[in-house]
Amino acid sequence: MDHFEYRDGALYAEDVAVAELAARFGTPLYIYSRATLERHFRVFDAAFGSHPHLVCYSVKANSNLGVLSALARLGSGFDIVSVGELERVLAAGGEPGKVVFSGVGKREDEMVRALDVGIRCFNAESEAELERLQAVAARLGKRAPISLRVNPDVDAKTHPYISTGLKENKFGIAIADALAVYSRAAAMPNLEIVGVDCHIGSQLTQLTPFTDALDRLLALIARLEAQGIHLRHIDLGGGIGIRYSDETPPHPDEYAAAVLAKLAELPYEICIEPGRAIVGNAGLLVTRVELLKLTADKNFVVVDAAMNDLIRPSLYSAWMDIVPVDARLERPRRCYDVVGPICETGDFLGKQRTLGVEAGDLLAVRSAGAYGFSMASNYNSRPRAAEVMVDGEQVHLVRERESVTSLFAGEQRLP
Ligand code: LLP
Repeated sequence: MDHFEYRDGALYAEDVAVAELAARFGTPLYIYSRATLERHFRVFDAAFGSHPHLVCYSVKANSNLGVLSALARLGSGFDIVSVGELERVLAAGGEPGKVVFSGVGKREDEMVRALDVGIRCFNAESEAELERLQAVAARLGKRAPISLRVNPDVDAKTHPYISTGLKENKFGIAIADALAVYSRAAAMPNLEIVGVDCHIGSQLTQLTPFTDALDRLLALIARLEAQGIHLRHIDLGGGIGIRYSDETPPHPDEYAAAVLAKLAELPYEICIEPGRAIVGNAGLLVTRVELLKLTADKNFVVVDAAMNDLIRPSLYSAWMDIVPVDARLERPRRCYDVVGPICETGDFLGKQRTLGVEAGDLLAVRSAGAYGFSMASNYNSRPRAAEVMVDGEQVHLVRERESVTSLFAGEQRLP
């Protein structure tokens, strides 16, 4: 459920008309709904009831400080993959003790900073990483809390680019090797084993891959316990999908119920790292129609947003809904490809959409809150869009539009 709806044919973000926001802040514009964001966090948090748990929002999905600060105030934890994300969390008021650090290539300086601020856990993905972390922690005279990200070899049944839990993927430690790697970690004096984790992919629409992965983790945990290696938490990663068109992803309640049923009475704290499911449907990308290009073979709506603003359609062939901001306008309806101004054939936001539009009209790409702005670039020297957070009738500009001069501010002409 989200808080974007039509009122008398005009699209609203909570209590503010999207057209007003576009007039005030320009386009392309990302618009987020605080009520939606918070609702999604609370649904996840409540789903696990009184079982010890921590929802660690996955920062990569949308790392705007406005988003992070709203979640931090609700007590959210955070899943990060870089020191940049860590600094964002801290700047937003997040608690370092609720941060888990994922990623296959953590640098030494990133480890140092994370140890200094006292994060909750390093999700280690290889033996080489454990050795590096041991050395860094020893140098600082600290003990680094670790979990091993194991690769449970389950098929997440999602797009291959966002499927991560198969043994041919670069992520995690093969589950068959995990016992041996845990034993080695246990012998490293500056590491403290606290958990196990996995993340099998993103935009999952079925429960079974999650429960299959958990079965494999629980079997591993039993063997670890038998060897005297005790864990405190199980981190199941992120991955619950959202509805872009007609998908029916599991509700967080179903997900939590399935997880808790498998755990039975086992005392492990459950961590989860949802990104998309919290922020995806809490955002829109609003774009203005520059012109229509009608040809014998195809019709195009050329808009002012492009693949640099929202790369998901180009990169993953992702289907994202494109709707008029003013549904009252009477326009001839045609089948169009909705394309941006970038010089790439792959620069499109949607293909074969039936729309009634004219130059100057506004369109909104729905479900753009996750992996939208956070994957934006400056390709074609396009300044990145502004971002606003709507909260009831209030509007907060949470990132100003980039200026053209800022694009090359750090560059130099040759002497
Ligand atoms: N935890 C880890 C270790 C991850 O790698 C990810 C996402 C998440 C949590 C959050 O997953 P989520 O709940 O959002 O599915 N750019 C792609 C998605 C890439 C996901 C990468 N990892 C897209 O736009 O579909």
